Order: sequence, then structure tokens, then C-alpha cells
Amino acid sequence: MDNYTDKLSVETSETSKINSVDFNNLDFGRVFTDHMFVCDYADGKWQTPKVMPYQPMTYDPSARVFHYGQAVFEGMKAYKDDDGKVFLFRPKQNFERINKSSARLAMPAFPENYFFEGLEALLNLDKDWIKPGMGNSLYIRPFVIATEPAISASPANMYRFMIICSPAQSYYNSAVRVLIADYYSRSANGGVGAAKAAGNYAAQFYPTALALEKGFQQVVWTDASTHEFLEEAGTMNVFFRVGDKLITAPTSDRILDGVTRKSMIQIAEDLGVTCEVRRVTVEEIKAAAKDGSLKEVFGAGTAAVISPISAFQHKEELFEISGTDAEDSYAKLFKQTLLNIQHNLSDDKHGWRHEVKIN
Ligand code: COI
Repeated sequence: MDNYTDKLSVETSETSKINSVDFNNLDFGRVFTDHMFVCDYADGKWQTPKVMPYQPMTYDPSARVFHYGQAVFEGMKAYKDDDGKVFLFRPKQNFERINKSSARLAMPAFPENYFFEGLEALLNLDKDWIKPGMGNSLYIRPFVIATEPAISASPANMYRFMIICSPAQSYYNSAVRVLIADYYSRSANGGVGAAKAAGNYAAQFYPTALALEKGFQQVVWTDASTHEFLEEAGTMNVFFRVGDKLITAPTSDRILDGVTRKSMIQIAEDLGVTCEVRRVTVEEIKAAAKDGSLKEVFGAGTAAVISPISAFQHKEELFEISGTDAEDSYAKLFKQTLLNIQHNLSDDKHGWRHEVKIN
């Protein structure tokens, strides 16, 4: 593998947008930092990686990403503690997952040293954009697109790997109401549901828009063949609290292996809460809602963190869930436990924090 440090080219921005940003009123994903990371793939290898001022890019209209959606992405976050130390949360998971997603879309793997040294160089330049304090973070979006100008329907020979960053607070401003899918599907066996493929998200927009017209912000997807099993919510994995135990669906070809999801499962074990990872039926959750044993439903994701779900509808039946917002809810306890680790406020017994050296 190339010695990356010798190759990285860094061009800094002459001006900064930071003073024009209201960090107390951030709309998710609308403001971007001053720099970005770029690395092109051509002639069978990744070329010189660059950190450069954030700027628009120009592509040929025939670039394959525009026609066949050959694109994958990741979502991760950086946090700053009160001493100014900067941390990433389980970044190796994201690195490994973007390469798994790329492999599924017939795209080349990105080298680990390029990823980490590029990310660290970028975070050093844009460190002032990472605000300390609970609830503040810098959302990091690595992505890869097929840039080759040619519209034959086959894998491209040219790609661009990029990282852009956006200061973030919450993704959802209040509890989420969800509709359980009984017709549309997000993914299928043997498909790309487990990959963070751009098209997985676009495919959800239409059914989610229909759900929104009925007052639901998200769809909870069910298995494509029977619509009997609850899977994930697109922007997050889903947990159900029935009595004192949690239940969440196992990962599969169809479900994203969420980093927050797997952290929740470990936190449950650490806190002595039973978390069953198994197939979960729509009918059992409706029955639990009816008999009062369904205490909470919440989503877990990098952007969404832990987002309470306050109601779900299946076909014509609507269920309101009041427990998720209670002071002693699992949602609150698990969220606080996670945030304390991410913000360097508690022990990190699983080694999830990755400190970024700030020069
Ligand atoms: C993330 O949580 O990082 C995601 O990729 C979800 C996205 C829809 C914001």
C-alpha cells in the first residue's frame, strides 16, 4: 500500500464560513465545513488524495452515477470534549462497512490508511466546527460515486471517494410517528438492503412521502415477501421494549448492520437488560401494544442517535406509545449512556472512542 502521508496534498481555504453559522439552530445536513477530502480512482488505482476547500464539483452528464446510481455512503460523527479533545465513535466499523457496500455495488475498496489519515487531516483543518457539549457533533459523510463518463450498464472504471462534514444536533426534533409497511418494500433477499447504497434511500422517498401525508415521518419496513416481520426504519434500526426486555431484528441481506444498533445491544448487556435479537412480528408488537406490555419503541442510528417513536400505525390500526418519553425510559437511559461514551464523559470499556490527534 502507498505511503499515504507522503502523498496527501492539502490546500487550505483562504476564508471560513464558520462565523455565518448559527450553531444553536442547525437544520440537519444543510451547512458544510470549509474543507473536503477527495480521492479519485483511475487506471486501476486510487490516485493522490487531497484535502481542499469545500466546493462544487463538475462531472460529465454521462457519469455513471447519474444513470445507474452506482454510489455508496457512510455516516459517522466526531465529538469534542470540554478539554478540546476530538473523538470519533467506532470509525473502523464505518470504514469496513463502506468497503462492504462498495463490494456489493462492484466498486473498488478504499485503502484504510487513506481513509483514516485523510479524515484526520480534514478534522484538523475543520476542528473549530466541532462544538463541545452534549448534543453537539460533527456529522461526517464519506461517499463514493462512479464518475466514468460512459453510459453502458456495467461497473465504472473511474470513481471519486469523498468526505464532507456538517455540524449537527438532532436529526428529528421531536418523537417520530411511524407507519408499518404493508405494501412497499425497502429491500429483498439477495438485494442491497444491507449496503449503504444511495439508491436504498431514494427508493424510500415515495412511500415515506405517502406516509408523511398521513402524519407519519418514517416507514418501518417489513420483509418484502410477507410483510409480517418488522425490519428497520431506513434512517435507523428499531428497538421494541416489551415488559423489561428489548427486542430488535437480526441483521440480514435486507437490514443495515447499524453501528448504533450494535452498540445498543452491547450497552443492554452492560446494563443487565435482556435484548433479544430475533425476528419480530408485526402481530406480536400489536398484541403487546393492546395488552399494555409494549412500553417503548425507539430508533437507533448515527444521525438519529436514539429517537423515540411515539406512535405506529399498521393498516388502519393506530397505536400511541407513551412510555418512550418517560424519565425512566430505556430510550433515555441508553441514549445518555451512549452520549457519555461518545463525549468522553464515562469509561470506554469496549474501546469505542478513537481520539483524533489535533495538531
Ligand atoms: C446515518 O445515520 O448516518 C444515516 O446514514 C442516515 C441518513 C438517512 C441520515
